[in-house]
Amino acid sequence: RRLVVLISGSGTNLQALIDAQNTAALPNAQIVLVVSNRKAAYGLTRAASANPPIPTAYLGLQPYLKANPGKTRADYDIEVARLVVRAKPDLVVCAGWMHIVSGGFLDVLKGTVVLEGEDVLGREIPVINIHPALPGQFDGAHAIERGFEAFQKGEVEKLGVMVHRVIAEVDRGEPLIVREVEVRKGEELDEYTRRLHEVEWEIIVQATRKVLDEVKPSYSSSDFQ
Ligand code: GRF
Repeated sequence: RRLVVLISGSGTNLQALIDAQNTAALPNAQIVLVVSNRKAAYGLTRAASANPPIPTAYLGLQPYLKANPGKTRADYDIEVARLVVRAKPDLVVCAGWMHIVSGGFLDVLKGTVVLEGEDVLGREIPVINIHPALPGQFDGAHAIERGFEAFQKGEVEKLGVMVHRVIAEVDRGEPLIVREVEVRKGEELDEYTRRLHEVEWEIIVQATRKVLDEVKPSYSSSDFQ
């Protein structure tokens, strides 16, 4: 089964998927493309240094808008979707993709919009996202810091991480895997963050496997090697 992973940063969640692909943790699955919206994302280096190397693509929003006057963020999202569809994935994993995907992006991946010049896959490509908060908590960026602060102020009882299906509203899709991460007494943010990331690296592999097991690949990956 074919995975496309979208990243923007250090790519430690991507690394967890690279290490798990084609192992008992994530059998018969390989990452066929990594897309980043940030040129400096270390995740691009992780993909290139994988064995075998994983193809990467960089498409930044601002450079795209500058190079295409009159085009909008929605057009950019369509170009990202085009890159993704061309890789013919069975699943797209947003692993630290710091960009709110638009409805247009999802329409292409759902198959409700076919891009001219692109093969028609005739099936929906599911999209999942990892978010370092519990369902309904701290949507958007800096969720870890915001959660940690709220916990210290007694505004929340519990913190955690989840992988959820991606829908048009940010961080609001159906949760697939949710794990609480308790804050230890007197623990600093950096220690808590480190422990939270370790939980992320587990659930991103588990959630990917869970969704792939639901997906009937319409072709074997050898068709495209
Ligand atoms: C992770 O904490 C993820 O939950 C959030 O951004 C971070 C990405 O980290 N969306 P990395 O790039 O996978 O190391």
